[in-house]
Parts: sequence; structure tokens; C-alpha cells
Amino acid sequence: MTRPLIIAIDGPAASGKGTLAKRIAAHYGLRYLDTGTLYRAVARDVLAANGDLRDAVAATAVARNLDPDTLDDPFLRDRGVGEAASIVARIPEVRDTILQYQRDFAATPPGAVIDGRDIGTIVCPDASAKLFVTATLQERARRRYHELRAKTFDVTRDQVEGEIRNRDRRDLEREVAPLAQAEDAVLLETTDLDIEAAFQAALLAIEGLLER
Ligand code: DC
Repeated sequence: MTRPLIIAIDGPAASGKGTLAKRIAAHYGLRYLDTGTLYRAVARDVLAANGDLRDAVAATAVARNLDPDTLDDPFLRDRGVGEAASIVARIPEVRDTILQYQRDFAATPPGAVIDGRDIGTIVCPDASAKLFVTATLQERARRRYHELRAKTFDVTRDQVEGEIRNRDRRDLEREVAPLAQAEDAVLLETTDLDIEAAFQAALLAIEGLLER
């Protein structure tokens, strides 16, 4: 049996890794998993039950009962949900519960493109290719600001930058599976690249990694 093709894409909030990952999945005919959505859904369900995002027992119970059919809920993309997700994502038992789902998804033929914070380091350390996608805080805030304004959210650029800075701090500083570039990942700096240029650079990097 041929080994599933697994492409791991990590990076900070609003780095554009999701847009890239979707295009890469379509290019290679692979399935796509946005792992941030899993943490967002846990946060949504904890809040819906009037729970506390820092309550490990409650959040873990929610994670165990997560319904994959609810992952396309547009509410998950709302402002504030990413921040709530980064709070439940600090709980080791929540991460452990979600880990197996991610690994099973990756291992199902023909393979997958998976994006997140710890895919190349923890979830799929043996991935066929790993990218670490980033951009400056200011550029990520600019992109997220335009995205939110398109949805008519009443928000300022400074607020968006502050929220992303907080999320970076939480994701980088947590004790379990923090945001990190795997040693064998290729760094893709997209500050000065538009989506098409970033996609071409990503394909070039992946082809190089797959040829090794
Ligand atoms: O990628 P995103 O912005 O949708 O992720 C939301 C939060 O979920 C992020 O701030 C931290 C957490 N997360 C994580 O801890 N590990 C992942 N693999 C993906 C997301």
C-alpha cells in the first residue's frame, strides 16, 4: 500500500495558511483539515453550555463529544472565537483528545493537507512535506481587518492588531505543543507576497521536499 501523502502547514493567526492549504489540497487532490476549527468548535460548545473556557474537565468532556458534522458552522469564523479557541487549546487533555482525530484524518488515503500550530512538530512529525507560513504582525492584522470589515464587523485596525498579538503570545507561550516551526519545515514568509505568489512559492517548496 502506498503511504498517504501528508502535507503539514503551520503558522501564526491570520498568516494566510488556511487559504494556501485549501489550494494546495485541491492541487494534489488531497483532503483538507483546518485544525483551528476543532479548537474553535470546542470553545463554541463550552460557551454554549455556559461553561468556563479554563475548566479542563468541562472542556475535555466537550472535546470528547465534538460532532465533526458541526465544523462548517459559520459562527466558528466570528471575531472572538479564535481568542476563545486559544484558551481551550492550552488544556493538555483537550489537545490529547483532538490528537487522535487529527492523526486518523491524516492517515486516511490518499492523505491530507493539515494546517494548525503543531502539525509538523506533534500531530504529524513524519509528514511528507512541512511548511511554516508567516508574515509580520502588521501585515496579518491588515489582512484580518479587511476580512472582518467585509463581514461588516465594527472593528478598528488597532483592535485587530491587539487581538492577534494576544493570540500569538498565548499560542507561542503555552506549555503543551506551542506554535513552533519544525526543524525540517520550509519557512514561507508571505508579507510581500499576494495569494498567487504565495501559492507558487509553496508549491515550489513542497515539490523540493517531496523529491528528497
Ligand atoms: O488557526 P486558527 O486561528 O483557526 O486557530 C484558533 C486557535 O486554536 C489558535 O489560536 C490556537 C488553537 N490551535 C492550536 O492550538 N493548535 C492547532 N493545531 C490549531 C489551532
